[in-house]
Amino acid sequence: MPIKITYLGHSGFLLETGPHRLAVDPFLTGNPLAKHTPEDIAPTGIALTHGHADHFGDTIALAKAHNCTVFAAFEITEYLQTLGIDNVSPGNPGGSIKTEPGYIAFTQAFHSSSFDGRYMGMPCGLIINMNGVTIYHAGDTGLFSDMKLIGEIYKPDIAMLPIGDRFTMGPALATRAAEMIQPKVAVPIHYNTWPPIEQNPADFKPKGIKVKVLNPGDEWNYG
Ligand code: NI
Ligand code: MN
Repeated sequence: MPIKITYLGHSGFLLETGPHRLAVDPFLTGNPLAKHTPEDIAPTGIALTHGHADHFGDTIALAKAHNCTVFAAFEITEYLQTLGIDNVSPGNPGGSIKTEPGYIAFTQAFHSSSFDGRYMGMPCGLIINMNGVTIYHAGDTGLFSDMKLIGEIYKPDIAMLPIGDRFTMGPALATRAAEMIQPKVAVPIHYNTWPPIEQNPADFKPKGIKVKVLNPGDEWNYG
């Protein structure tokens, strides 16, 4: 069954299959490029890579409004519970959680993770499997050679990789990352939201791997 992928801008996506609507890093309020409002996306689940505000985004309001399950690092779900948000599913790198349409697994990411000065646990990448389609959302990260292993183990159809530079990989390192991961399609993310991460996605050109450039608001049916 195909999945519908909607790019929310920055690192955010809405992944839909059947009744399942999983929002990944739903940063809409304050995102200068977002075409959607939190009300538009009405998720049944939220998956977070880490606690920085440009990823954590509208999670609190969405979780309260929709009582959707939040999949995230243990410290993030602990924080949500202090706010009365109890529908949480904590994880950490190496772990995998079964979901109704597939699974969500956490990988390492080389980055940091905090929110309002609070430690938010390990930053993560996410492996999201929905109805047989596997997506590796790398979160915010530098390049690391175990990306090759992540590619071998999970065989992702799609890899979503940051190319903004400064806080994450830039286009050259993300190109190396995609060549190690060997997805069927690579999608550049985390760029052009603000001037410090301005990039030309044409500079992201892994050899032998199809690149799909999405603009905020774009919808893409895969599978
Ligand atoms: Ni970050
Ligand atoms: Mn970020």
